[in-house]
Amino acid sequence: SAAEKGGYQHFMLKEIMEQPKAVADTVKPRIKNDAVVFEDNGLTDERLREIEHIHIIGCGSALHAGMVGKRVIEAMCRIRCTAEVASEFRYENPIIGKKDMCIVISQSGETADTLAAMRLAKQAGAFTIAIVNVVSSTIAREADGVLYTWAGPEISVATTKAYSAQLSALYLISVKIARVRGLISIGDERALCAELQRLPECIEQTLKCQSDMQRIATLYANRSSVFFLGRGLDYAAALEASLKLKEISYIHSEAYAAGELKHGTISLIEEGTLVVALATQPALFEKTVSNIREVVARGASVVLVTTDDFTGDESVCQHIVRLPKCLYEFSASLSIIPMQLLAYYIAVERNCDVDKPRNLAKSVTVE
Ligand code: G6P
Repeated sequence: SAAEKGGYQHFMLKEIMEQPKAVADTVKPRIKNDAVVFEDNGLTDERLREIEHIHIIGCGSALHAGMVGKRVIEAMCRIRCTAEVASEFRYENPIIGKKDMCIVISQSGETADTLAAMRLAKQAGAFTIAIVNVVSSTIAREADGVLYTWAGPEISVATTKAYSAQLSALYLISVKIARVRGLISIGDERALCAELQRLPECIEQTLKCQSDMQRIATLYANRSSVFFLGRGLDYAAALEASLKLKEISYIHSEAYAAGELKHGTISLIEEGTLVVALATQPALFEKTVSNIREVVARGASVVLVTTDDFTGDESVCQHIVRLPKCLYEFSASLSIIPMQLLAYYIAVERNCDVDKPRNLAKSVTVE
């Protein structure tokens, strides 16, 4: 009903707007005296010191959150970390060591492939920790430890706030591991915790792009194909951006690691193709800008999502979306906001059933 949607036309938009709260509720209870503190989830300092490999497992958007997490953890903790598709992992005789940790990500906590992959990892002797939104769901009950995302009930099939809460749970784990293993000082941890606590406010600021994204959406809602480009964290974010768009608007879309463009995808770029480029990592700005030039030269229209301090050549793109300042490691939490809004408004423009897209289920409990 309209009341349940809190005055919004769709649950998806309501849930997009609830993201600052979802992130705050997930982060706040785990930060005490400027340090990450976990209670009763088995992530003891001793265990975290011993980890040899981290396997992150999930399906759909949960996997995409894991792909962001993999990059953040490897950068911050220097532990080998892989993000794996649950339905692949379970059938490829994965190499799992007794000192491995398996981070299982699932909004519902009931996804069949994710559950099976977790059971396999557990059997092999890995420590399993579940990042789950639904309390007492099967994955939450069976994992060795749980780190709940406190996003609240999510109704829209296309996930938004649960995904954002998953990212913040992964950041917490990353900061904790880095500190326990001596990669960062107490002072660094304090600074990272301050950044984590500032994230909800940064997301709130980012949500102000709503009307811009609505306007951009009306300009491009008739396209038949959209490409999302990025490197590193921006590539992981691009995968989620592309999934959101195709799920609810039924427009064909693909995410590409920007450097892979020249190895095939560029042949699909023609006059008027929409390319969304994500560039939030200063060290990679110039590289991505040169990829943008390549698609512009072939007639693409470009939306560039970047940070406040981007100083490159703005004339290469049609539209620029600037994100508020935040730690680069956490930038995927901001860049996804305009992407969710773009997908939402394009779907609305195309008269799609936003909250219940065709052929999709909120939770996939069969293989
Ligand atoms: C379904 C949903 C996706 C979700 C995926 C994993 O395909 O439509 O939005 O990302 O399942 O769900 P989970 O509950 O495990 O996060």
